[in-house]
Amino acid sequence: MKITLKRKLTINTNDNLILLIDKKSNLDFLNLSKSENQFLKTQLKNKKELIYINQYNRWIQFISPKKISSSNLHLENCRLLGDRLLDNIATAKSLLIVDIKNNQTEILAITEGVALGSYSFNNRKTKKASTGLKTISLCKRSKRSDVIELQNIVNSVFLCRDLVNEPFSHLKAKELAAAAKKASKEAGFKIKTLNKQKIKQLKMGGLLAVNQGSLDPPNFSILTWGPKNAKNKKPIVLVGKGIVYDTGGLSLKPTKGMDIMKVDMGGAGCVIGAMHAIAINNLPMNVIGLVPATDNRPSGNAYAPGDVVKMHSGATVEVLNTDAEGRMILADALSFAKKYNPKIVIDLATLTGAAARAIGHYGIVSMHQKAEKEHLRLKAIGDNVHERLAEMPFWEDYNKLIKSDVADIKNIGGPEAGAITAGKFLAYFTDYPWIHLDIAGPTYVTTRYGYRGKGATGTGVRLLYQFVKSYC
Ligand code: BES
Ligand code: ZN
Ligand code: ZN
Repeated sequence: MKITLKRKLTINTNDNLILLIDKKSNLDFLNLSKSENQFLKTQLKNKKELIYINQYNRWIQFISPKKISSSNLHLENCRLLGDRLLDNIATAKSLLIVDIKNNQTEILAITEGVALGSYSFNNRKTKKASTGLKTISLCKRSKRSDVIELQNIVNSVFLCRDLVNEPFSHLKAKELAAAAKKASKEAGFKIKTLNKQKIKQLKMGGLLAVNQGSLDPPNFSILTWGPKNAKNKKPIVLVGKGIVYDTGGLSLKPTKGMDIMKVDMGGAGCVIGAMHAIAINNLPMNVIGLVPATDNRPSGNAYAPGDVVKMHSGATVEVLNTDAEGRMILADALSFAKKYNPKIVIDLATLTGAAARAIGHYGIVSMHQKAEKEHLRLKAIGDNVHERLAEMPFWEDYNKLIKSDVADIKNIGGPEAGAITAGKFLAYFTDYPWIHLDIAGPTYVTTRYGYRGKGATGTGVRLLYQFVKSYC
C-alpha cells in the first residue's frame, strides 16, 4: 500500500473521487447535475456520513463525519468511515482522497482507516488476487512528514499482521527471527538472535522447558534502537510472547481452537512491528525489544505437568499445566530485562483465554506494577488510537493463588481470575516499572472488525509506537 501526497488538485473527469466535505464546501468544480446536487443536499441534511454518487465514467464518495464530542471517538469514527468507503470501490487499484473541508485531523484518520482496512493476506495463495487497493493519493495542505509517518505506521501494522497470519508450517521460531532481522535491515534498528546454546548458557529454563517437546530449536532475539539523539537514558523495553504454535503441549488443547494457535506469537509480532515503526520514523528514544521464541508441542521429551523448572532468574516453577507456556518464556525475558535498568517494561502476549472471555476482542486487558503514571499515559494513548486498555485489579490477594507446595511458584492459579493469576506469575519476575498487556482477545478476529480487518489485526503496534513517541 502506497500513500502519496498531492499538492495540486488536478482532477480528470474520469478520476474516482473521495471528498471530505461539510455543508459549506464549494463543489462547483465537480459540475454535478441538478439532481445530483439535490441528492447530495438531502443526504447531508439527513446527516448521512457517506454519500455515494455513481456517474457515467466515475464514482464520487462524499464523506461528512458527524460531530462527536469526544475527540477520540470522533477520530475513530473517521477511521471507520475510511474503512466503510472501501465497500464501494469495487476493483479500484488507486484512490484519490481530497480534503475540501480542510480538516487535517479528519483526513489523516480517514486515510488511516482506508489504508488499514485495505489489507489482505495473500502470501499463501497460488493465484494472486489481481484486485486490491495499491495506492492512495491524498490531496491536502498538511505536512508531508505526517503522510510519511502514516505510511510507515501502516507498513508496520501490515508487517505484524503478516507475521500473525502466517501459519506454523511457514513460520517456525527460525523464520520469526529471520523476519525480525529483515525488519531491522529495512528500518535501521540492530538485532541479535541468541541460539539454543546461548540460551542454555543464560539458564533460560522456562524457554528451554517449553521447547523440550519441539523438533526445532528456540531462539531469543534482542532488538535495539539506540539513536544518538535519544531523549531517555534508561530504555523502554518491549517484550513479546513468541510462541509460534501452541498445541498446549502434553496438556493438549482440543482440536477446536487449536487451528488459530498460529497467532500465539502475536505479542512478538507487535514488538517487531512497533520496533519497525519506531526506527523507520526515527524516534529519538532508546528502545529495546525482546522476543523469546519456540513452539509448544507434546513429544516423548516434552516438559510435563508436575515438572519443576529452574528459571533464568534462579526461581523454581512447578509446572501444573504445559498449556500455560507463554508465562514460562516471558518470565525468562522479564528477568533478563533487569540488566537494561529499564525506565519501563511493557510485555504483550496472547496469554490467556480468560482475558479474551472477559472483554472479547474489543480491547486489551492490562495490569501493572510500580507503573501507575506510565499506565495512565498508555491508557490515554490507547483511547486515542482506539486500542483501548481494560485494567484488571491486581490486588495482593491474588498472589496466594500461585503459591506452590514444591517450588517457589506454580504456573497456574485456580479456576477464577485466570488473566490476573497469569499476570501475577509474570510480576514475580519483575522488579522495575512494568505493564502487562494480554492481547489474546484483539490479536485475531474471525469476523471483520472495521479497519482492523479479519484475521490478524495488528492491535498493539499503533499503541506502542504512539506511547514511545509521546516521550519525544
Ligand atoms: N495461547 C494461549 C491463550 C490464548 C487463548 C491465546 C485464546 C489466544 C486465544 C495460552 O498459552 C493458554 O493456553 N492459556 C491457558 C492457560 C491455562 C492453562 C491456565 C488458557 O487460557 O486456557
Ligand atoms: Zn498455551
Ligand atoms: Zn500460548
